[in-house]
Amino acid sequence: MKLILLGAPGSGKGTQAAYISEKYDLPHISTGEIFRENIKEMTPLGVKVKAVMDTGNLCPDDLTVELVKERLSKPDCKNGYLLDGFPRNIYQASALDEIDAPDKVINLDIDLSKIEHRITGRRSCAKCNGSYHVDFIGNVNTCPNCGSELTIRKDDTVEVVKERLAVYEVQTAPLIDYYKAQGKLVNVDGDKSIKEVFDEIVKVLG
Ligand code: AP5
Ligand code: MG
Repeated sequence: MKLILLGAPGSGKGTQAAYISEKYDLPHISTGEIFRENIKEMTPLGVKVKAVMDTGNLCPDDLTVELVKERLSKPDCKNGYLLDGFPRNIYQASALDEIDAPDKVINLDIDLSKIEHRITGRRSCAKCNGSYHVDFIGNVNTCPNCGSELTIRKDDTVEVVKERLAVYEVQTAPLIDYYKAQGKLVNVDGDKSIKEVFDEIVKVLG
């Protein structure tokens, strides 16, 4: 199964991807996580993308497509993939169609007015990539999954969230029609509880 999780910043892509990846044994590929790991390690790629990520804009298309192409060529992708945060615009979507086209695209549909709350209350684990919210875990410093330190992402500020949303609306939202036209789009209500959203995805995937 070749799956894409589409949705606005904070719509729950990372949260759902962890469950989907485990249930369906698919490699979870998040371009955002790959970039963040490179920034943490200060690799040449990380140095190149840090400034643009900090402002909430998209990293260069050619570099991102190359990175995904290389990742999809790894042996763990031979039975499928679960892409989270890629593609982000029409250019990336048509590049993916050339590399290894998806079977299904799940669009996590969320009321955009809820995003700021979700993102400013998020706590992230840099070790296991867990994503939590203070509403559910309280103001704790350790990851409920692996016990490592929880951090706040550098781009999870009110100002940067506004920019990320603007980028989403102009560049990424058109992918909804792109995949609808291919007959691959499935809308899932992302405003429900984490468990209800996952149950709906499982129903859709069968
Ligand atoms: P990326 O890391 O992909 O960030 P994003 O798309 O902005 O999405 P987020 O990770 O913020 O949100 P999410 O949908 O994963 O939500 P989550 O599950 O964590 O990209 C970051 C940056 O990297 C980009 O801005 C860009 O610079 C660069 N980049 C990445 N990919 C790129 C590409 N392809 N091309 C170019 N540049 C790229 O949930 C959010 C919060 O909500 C959490 O606190 C969670 O606990 C909570 N929550 C989740 N589900 C629910 C629910 N159902 N009910 C209540 N709360 C919930
Ligand atoms: Mg994410």
